[in-house]
Amino acid sequence: MSLLKRIQEVEPINEQEKKEGEATAQVSSESTQDIMKAFRDVRKTEAPKDKAKKSMDKHQQLKNLLHKQILSEVKEDTDIEEILPKIDSMSIEIIKEDENFRGGVDRKKVVNELINDLTGFGPINPLLIDEEVTEVMVNGPNQVYCERNGRLEMTAIQFRDDEHVMSVIEKIVAPIGRRIDESSPMVDARLPDGSRVNAIIPPLALGGPTVTIRKFAKDPFTIQNLIEFGTLNDEMAEFLDACVKARLNIFVSGGTGSGKTTTLNVLSNFIPDDERIVTIEDAAELQLGQEHVISLESRPPNIEGKGAVTIRDLVRNSLRMRPDRVVIGEVRGAEALDMLQAMNTGHDGSLATGHSNGPREMIARLETMVLLAGVELPVKAIREQIAGAIDVIIQQSRLKDGSRKIVSITEVQGLEGEVIVLQDIFKYKQTGKDEDGNIHGRLAPTGVRPKFYEQLENAGIRMGPNVFIEQEWQV
Ligand SMILES: Nc1ncnc2c1ncn2[C@@H]1O[C@H](COP(=O)(O)OP(=O)(O)OP(=O)(O)O)[C@@H](O)[C@H]1O
Ligand SMILES: [Mg+2]
Repeated sequence: MSLLKRIQEVEPINEQEKKEGEATAQVSSESTQDIMKAFRDVRKTEAPKDKAKKSMDKHQQLKNLLHKQILSEVKEDTDIEEILPKIDSMSIEIIKEDENFRGGVDRKKVVNELINDLTGFGPINPLLIDEEVTEVMVNGPNQVYCERNGRLEMTAIQFRDDEHVMSVIEKIVAPIGRRIDESSPMVDARLPDGSRVNAIIPPLALGGPTVTIRKFAKDPFTIQNLIEFGTLNDEMAEFLDACVKARLNIFVSGGTGSGKTTTLNVLSNFIPDDERIVTIEDAAELQLGQEHVISLESRPPNIEGKGAVTIRDLVRNSLRMRPDRVVIGEVRGAEALDMLQAMNTGHDGSLATGHSNGPREMIARLETMVLLAGVELPVKAIREQIAGAIDVIIQQSRLKDGSRKIVSITEVQGLEGEVIVLQDIFKYKQTGKDEDGNIHGRLAPTGVRPKFYEQLENAGIRMGPNVFIEQEWQV
């Protein structure tokens, strides 16, 4: 959409519709850069309960004038970046010319609101710009939550009404050729920066149009970051690096938002530079540092219900692309069978994630997923496939205090009778909890050396002698 069209669409807010108690971004200086910076300071703020009607009038008048002024400056091909830095000085000019506006109007707030509307995503813009915020959740017009530093936070941000939320959703989905309305009330989309968006609207969402945004990390976490966060320790990192280099098949398991994709990304970056990597995802989230990476993304059906390309289709296709490694974002259906078959037939070193609360449960889920592929296989045969294919299950968890932890690294040792034998190599042991709800515990080896240790040695990998021995200092 051209800037001109966008500006024309920014409808000045009607005074009666304007809700009290809206979040305000406090701006401390004049430049646009500072305005952008101030967006980051939007926190849950108590707004004055009875805003003087008079100042509301002025607020709206100034906004309308400024809007007109912007409109007069913008041509069909004007770029948003050109106009943003000028808005602040335009507002100063208007106030200089009309003494009516001197006093009783928060000029900076007016400027902020217009910039928010112009840049596309309305009131949630401050959260999208805030680098500390990792997730944004709009539950209807009057409830906006975000996740900051692993914790959910209610913000004071409000939309005018359901239509205001809908207009933001439409702005998000229109550029990718999707639509949201009663006949198609759920949609997955992406922001231009790669952030993942899900929107669901009434009548399915009872509380009003609901939007969930998982922000795309500009600088994805590195193994060093995860060690600093306490997600894993140095020994586990060294071990996992060795497992990836030795081409073991690794499965990252965990609940929603537990950090599976992040861990998968870190593991994938352990893959040597000279290998050809094919990644398969629903929405491309992985960011690999290697040069030789082919990223594939599945496609939902179009409005007529046609043209879908599933993860399963892509897994099958990837095997014809001479991959050294196949990395699957999330396995949740019939593709499990193709993945296991690939792992069992020479495509070692594959990495994937799946949704579950423990390694044993993950295995059970994989069994069910294989059945979804529609091939009649006896349970024992399925278990043989799983035991033969997967070497390591990494269990990831989001603890109550918001921290993400690798709570176990488990070896899949093989099949005994009809039971898949699992052996923990590292485990998180909770030791207590403080008054703030922070969980204390330590990550420690179980003292068992994995059966595949020889495979690591054969691959020329030497690990420190203490990797599998618990150290006193590991806290
Ligand atoms: N080890 C970690 N420590 C702290 N924060 C993390 C960690 N891993 C991921 N995060 C943050 O948690 C959020 C969820 O991460 P991620 O997308 O990796 O989870 P997921 O399990 O793949 O989620 P989903 O189930 O939705 O696919 C992100 O905002 C990310 O920045
Ligand atoms: Mg994920």
